[in-house]
Amino acid sequence: MIDHCLRARQFDRPLIERLCASADRLRAAARDKAGADRLASLLSDKRAVLCFAQPSTRTFLSFANACHILGARFCDLRDMKASSQAKGESWEDTVRTFASYADFIVVRHPEADAAERAARTLEGLERAVRVVNAGSGPDEHPTQALLDVYTLARRGGIDGKRVAFVGDLKRGRAVRSLALMLRPYRVTLSFVSPPEFRPREDLLALLAEGGLRCEQTEDFEGELAKADVLYMTRVQDEYDSAGESRKVDVSRYRLGPEHLARLKPSAQILHPLPRRSEIDPGVDDDPRAAYWDQERNGLWIRAALLLLLSGRDGKV
Ligand code: NCD
Repeated sequence: MIDHCLRARQFDRPLIERLCASADRLRAAARDKAGADRLASLLSDKRAVLCFAQPSTRTFLSFANACHILGARFCDLRDMKASSQAKGESWEDTVRTFASYADFIVVRHPEADAAERAARTLEGLERAVRVVNAGSGPDEHPTQALLDVYTLARRGGIDGKRVAFVGDLKRGRAVRSLALMLRPYRVTLSFVSPPEFRPREDLLALLAEGGLRCEQTEDFEGELAKADVLYMTRVQDEYDSAGESRKVDVSRYRLGPEHLARLKPSAQILHPLPRRSEIDPGVDDDPRAAYWDQERNGLWIRAALLLLLSGRDGKV
């Protein structure tokens, strides 16, 4: 079991499968009013702080709605300039303050170690307060990886697949966390990017240590017919120091309707969203487009995670 959700490597295969099964049971139970009412009592004694110091639509709304489904109450802090951080308060003191009011602290933060530091601050606290990393700078986004794995499990399974990551693989935290979460699976990873956006060496070392087969290429067109999963991503230019992304030509790393005939009939097209031009909207109606499913799956897997962290996933 885990106390906090901080990084993808905390999740071994049995734990991932337990969360996916719990998410399936939650969505089945929510189909009728009696079931939905029962779910809304599961965490009715819990409160959450959703602290999002970086922009978010899906992750924020899915955690907020996961709280609604389970009856947990939440408050949110989305503008750090409106918090005492603007008066010079340390992150540690801010986290202690959250812990005075809540049972869950869901954090999105530009700094890579913000969630880890939050969990460390809570060590020794008498009351169990759980930290969930909802995106830590360019480093990790473990709940995105959970919803990605859940989506793949529901759409044909994972073992034996070739997963191609496309785009800004250097700074994409969704890419990093999903690649690491796939370590317990029998997969081949293909990293498809311009040279400037290749994955960082430390990620490749961790994947090699986990025994995953990894390939790197700049040839997106060449990958199309090979991939079982295409994981498209946008340029993470919020991490630029001097607009350097503008100099990188990513126009070749774009999926359009003209490519669809070359994809395997069983291929799955994923994107953590938001998208820019990496996926043409003309692709959306193809049955292999999985990104709107991913959003919905994120709601249920995050609800399953909150239940697990409360030791209550056996109750659904
Ligand atoms: C991702 C993120 O924030 O890392 N978005 C999300 O949570 N679905 C991907 C991105 O912003 O590119």
